[in-house]
Amino acid sequence: MKITKAEFVTSAVAPEGYPGERLPEIAFMGRSNVGKSSLINSLLGHRKMARTSSTPGRTQLINFFRVNGAFLFVDLPGYGYAKVPERIRRTWGEMVENYLANRKELVLSILIIDSRHPPTANDLRLKSWLEHHGLPFVVVSTKTDRLSNNQLRKSLSTTAADLGIDVGAILPYSSVTGRGGDRLWRAISEKIEAFRAA
Ligand code: GTP
Ligand code: MG
Repeated sequence: MKITKAEFVTSAVAPEGYPGERLPEIAFMGRSNVGKSSLINSLLGHRKMARTSSTPGRTQLINFFRVNGAFLFVDLPGYGYAKVPERIRRTWGEMVENYLANRKELVLSILIIDSRHPPTANDLRLKSWLEHHGLPFVVVSTKTDRLSNNQLRKSLSTTAADLGIDVGAILPYSSVTGRGGDRLWRAISEKIEAFRAA
């Protein structure tokens, strides 16, 4: 995908704050610090579009970015950061579920897993939740630049087994090298085309 324009649109906590334009949306989700914002930046070839941080829990709002004036990338707040107070954690869950369950423009969810660790209980819960709601999703295993080929092979098969999906269905990715970008863009483009055709 050739990126001609990428711009921040708005941050929101609830539907009143979501953008009003009826463009297809691709949402990026995963645990805190897994690399959601970095993945968005690397897909856009824009190092500073979505704020990244080595401090987990940085992205606490739903952030919308317009790409090529044609679709939106949605950076969801991460889950599972232990140091977040229970009250805020609940708010986050509601904020994300509200978006996922009700957003008609949502065409694809990208569930991001850290290739260095097995999926967490929250990852498994989210994946079941997406299936339950009939929402199309792809699983991306990121930070693969940190693993040897052998470690990566093992990691992918563990992740696939834990999630109960085919190993070939997982997209290995690295925001540092851009590995996996073509395949992920293809998955995204397909959904955008289908939204337009509908
Ligand atoms: P929150 O918004 O806090 O939930 O985090 P996030 O999921 O948006 O993660 P973010 O993109 O901020 O990245 C977290 C840390 O992981 C940063 O230090 C990134 O530089 C690093 N990181 C992200 N993706 C990769 C990757 O593919 N490879 C490597 N080596 N580091 C990565
Ligand atoms: Mg982030």
